[in-house]
Amino acid sequence: MKFNAALGLLALVGGASSSLTITPNTNKNPLVSNQNTTVVPNTFIVELQPDFHPDLQPKERFAKTAPGAKPGYRVRQQYNSTDFFYGVSVSFNTHVDLGTLRQSTGVKNAWKVAIVPRPEPYHLRGAPKISQGTSLPNLRGSAKVNQPLAMSNVQKLHDQGIKGKGVQVAIIDTGVDYRHPALGGGFGRGHKIALGYDFVGDDYDGSNTPVPDPDPLATCVDGGHGTHTAGIVGMEDPDNVGFGLVGVAPEATLASYRVFGCEGSTSNELIVSAFLKAAQDGADVVSISIGGYDIWEEINPFDEVITRLTNHGVAVVAAIGNFGTAGVFSTAAPGISTNALSVGSIENEVYPTVYTAHDDKHKAIDYVSVFPATSLGRVEVYQLGTGLDVPIDANVSSGCYEPAWDALAAASVDWNNTILLVSWVSWCGTNWGTAVDLGAQAILAYQPEELLIVVDEPEDPTTLLYLDYNNSRQIVNNLAQLPAGQKYYLTFDGKKPSSAADPLGRTPDDFSSFGPTVEMSLAPKVSAPGGTILATWPLEAGGYAVLSGTSMATPFAAGSLALLKSQQPHLSVAELYARLMTTAGPVNEPNSKQIASTARQGGGLIDVYAAVKADTVISPSELSLHDSETPAPRNITITNQSKSRKKYSFQHSPGSFYRVYYNYLTGNTDYNGGSEVIPLDVPASASFSQSSLTLGPGQSATVQVQIKPQHDDWPWSLPVYGGFVKIISDDAAYSIPYIGVPYNRTEVGPIMHNVTTQLPYDSPGILKLPANDLFLADGQIPTPNIDSYNWSTDPSKSFIPVFRVDVLLPSRFIRFDLVPANVSFVPSIYGFDPDVHIDYKPPSQAILPGFLGVPTYGQLFSITVDDAPANSPTLSQPLINHFFAQALLLPTLTNDDNVSYNISSGDYRPLLRALRWNGNEANPDDYESWLGPVIRADIPSDEFPTDT
Ligand SMILES: *[C@@H]1O[C@H](CO)[C@@H](O)[C@H](O)[C@H]1NC(C)=O
Ligand SMILES: *[C@@H]1O[C@H](CO)[C@@H](O)[C@H](O)[C@H]1NC(C)=O
Ligand SMILES: *[C@@H]1O[C@H](CO)[C@@H](O)[C@H](O)[C@H]1NC(C)=O
Ligand SMILES: *[C@@H]1O[C@H](CO)[C@@H](O)[C@H](O)[C@H]1NC(C)=O
Ligand SMILES: *[C@@H]1O[C@H](CO)[C@@H](O)[C@H](O)[C@H]1NC(C)=O
Repeated sequence: MKFNAALGLLALVGGASSSLTITPNTNKNPLVSNQNTTVVPNTFIVELQPDFHPDLQPKERFAKTAPGAKPGYRVRQQYNSTDFFYGVSVSFNTHVDLGTLRQSTGVKNAWKVAIVPRPEPYHLRGAPKISQGTSLPNLRGSAKVNQPLAMSNVQKLHDQGIKGKGVQVAIIDTGVDYRHPALGGGFGRGHKIALGYDFVGDDYDGSNTPVPDPDPLATCVDGGHGTHTAGIVGMEDPDNVGFGLVGVAPEATLASYRVFGCEGSTSNELIVSAFLKAAQDGADVVSISIGGYDIWEEINPFDEVITRLTNHGVAVVAAIGNFGTAGVFSTAAPGISTNALSVGSIENEVYPTVYTAHDDKHKAIDYVSVFPATSLGRVEVYQLGTGLDVPIDANVSSGCYEPAWDALAAASVDWNNTILLVSWVSWCGTNWGTAVDLGAQAILAYQPEELLIVVDEPEDPTTLLYLDYNNSRQIVNNLAQLPAGQKYYLTFDGKKPSSAADPLGRTPDDFSSFGPTVEMSLAPKVSAPGGTILATWPLEAGGYAVLSGTSMATPFAAGSLALLKSQQPHLSVAELYARLMTTAGPVNEPNSKQIASTARQGGGLIDVYAAVKADTVISPSELSLHDSETPAPRNITITNQSKSRKKYSFQHSPGSFYRVYYNYLTGNTDYNGGSEVIPLDVPASASFSQSSLTLGPGQSATVQVQIKPQHDDWPWSLPVYGGFVKIISDDAAYSIPYIGVPYNRTEVGPIMHNVTTQLPYDSPGILKLPANDLFLADGQIPTPNIDSYNWSTDPSKSFIPVFRVDVLLPSRFIRFDLVPANVSFVPSIYGFDPDVHIDYKPPSQAILPGFLGVPTYGQLFSITVDDAPANSPTLSQPLINHFFAQALLLPTLTNDDNVSYNISSGDYRPLLRALRWNGNEANPDDYESWLGPVIRADIPSDEFPTDT
């Protein structure tokens, strides 16, 4: 994408205030941060034609292609699998164009090498300080540490001795600490972790040269992610060690492929190598809890590679991502790959380990922690806010209340014998950094509201313990009842864990990414327990940790597939996925009786027992109804594979309806420009060709279902509907998740128009602002048809245009020009009255041929999905949800060769073109366009010389 940083201003939507502010920024989606997929300049994955010099090695074959015949490149990876993928990854010393590479003889396909960010679980609650060395404590008790197995009916299979024997599960991750006794204590044939490979080495950070070796061991704490995911698949705490934790498929053979060093990122080329090696080593299931925010499948080679694997019987289970706060379409790659089983996250029903402390009256207070904090002994409880002249409430004792911290700094506290009590409010956390600076060694966080405990683990030796809502109320009452001047003590004497109810148990986690895919297919496909999951962790860091993420749900689903495969080895990958999807159980929205949308949970929480025991085959396993207000009826085929006659009846369970910019588009003055998705009750209706049918053993029949969403007037708010078609037999219930968007994307262009907003103007439009005060809400609405603007090197003297054109539906290509004011181009959206006569003042400025025959004075920017130039490597820009507030700060444009220059005084019109859904970039009719009013520019040539 081309982008001129000097012009690059993007609206950031304020949370609390009702104004829009513009901040200098790159062209990043303001709603999603820190998930950049970046490309490595001039570096590509090249797949070679199978019949192109088949007798040669990948490197030598590449040398026979035109780009490979020239010197000046380095081969990085060789892909040597004739079954799956044959080619190289290669780095050129000079500029090479992706399109040219793709068209070279012998080349089958090519992709840019992209950096893939390190998986960051949503939070973690390890206990790096408890255990040293390799001796793990015995913490077995009554705690429900294996509750995720119960939630998904894995436990019922374990009870029947079904534990995944004979199935091989490969995990592509940060490596594994296989020295952990729950992971078998060793590596190689005969061990639990029987196979694997390290593609990178400890020191690889995503930018240096990987140093591979055959051993996937990762002992560094930051390599713990792969130890956790491996544990979820296959851990087994030995007798008298740990918590008695059991993975989903503890008898499966595990293989660990390491693609991250101890810090930093990895690249898609190494992930491809890992996929191929996993398949060559005989994997039945590959689990990959990695991925950057991405909605376009073609950016990466994952879709191709995963399709080849699944065609060869290798299932691929991939995280849908932790970008749920970005709203719908917040998927990750490779989770979006067509043939991957993408997985969303459901919250655990329990906080798996809580321990008891007692006060001096022997009243119990239970706290949430991985390990017991017995080393604290008896300590005074010092509530933050003590010493102030105000009553202590949840606000005063919160991490955000500065006077309380000042009072604490002034107090003399013996931190060796004191624990600091802080109220944990979701919007501010505990501020443990300040507490540590003041000397606190232990913090007890209490909750003023019943919320999920989402914690950040300090990286220093501070002990951070959490109270759930009940225990929070208890301790606050105990403190309030103390006689004046008396201190309150807790003795941390409880050594064995129990469990406490998790207030959001069995509902979708808010971090879990939303589907559907940009093609409007179901994503995620299923959900599994992924929130508040206790599993193995590197020994040096205590051996166990609680993490939350779709990273945790993914190995859970992979282990589940392994259990299913062990019982139904004859099923194809698609049939295995279908069984898990149609037997999963839909869950509700948090704190609601409404069924959660399929955009969030896919087919629902997997029920592995039901998947293994199912004796009815339902096809298809999902209904992706795409973009239509009147989707065509669909056929569902039901096959009775049991030995008895069965009656099946049909029902409909609509899920919640989502839209993103709800307030914005409905004129609600409580405008909150965030992308928060509020579940709405706008159910689709469904009618069936018959209400029930009866099938004898081996018989099958088809029933037709017609699903009809409700009419919706706000397509640019990204509405998504979904629900479940239910097929109920005498002894089992099956469901088919459906999803769609209630509008036609071809008819509704990507540019938002005819929408009245709460802002002081409509979109698309222009605002006139002083260049030193770019608050959109303060902007003047220009006169229609034409207005004057002036530029000065002193920004306080400049009155500049700020273009507000929101491209809210996905578009693969957006281009913004300033064109001659008398241009004959007919746009889809006029930003002025074309019948009003204006005496134009053409600038003394060269008119360039422009794009698709529309003359131009130059571009403000263009963005394409797969053509990032080397100087602007951010690739992941999903071209969706773009609030453009594009300010022309300086009178500077860029030509098609990326050369910038000043323009001169005179008349211009802004022209934005955005490629329609499924459009062809070369076809002018496939763009939606906005042509704006005349910008009459006054540009002093002494301040902005036009010669370059
Ligand atoms: C994302 O890109 C921006 C702009 O190039 C950069 O400042 C930021 O550090 C990047 N973030 C990550 C996590 O790489
Ligand atoms: C590629 O595979 C062939 C056949 O298995 C083998 O002989 C050759 O050494 C491999 N080449 C590389 C570069 O790994
Ligand atoms: C607190 O404990 C540390 C280490 O045990 C010790 O060095 C320090 O003197 C103690 N401080 C007080 C105030 O007792
Ligand atoms: C969407 O609109 C286009 C253009 O009018 C039409 O060709 C297409 O059939 C429509 N799609 C659906 C699903 O109605
Ligand atoms: C659905 O089934 C009916 C009857 O079996 C058949 O006529 C029709 O073509 C099928 N429709 C689709 C979309 O497959």
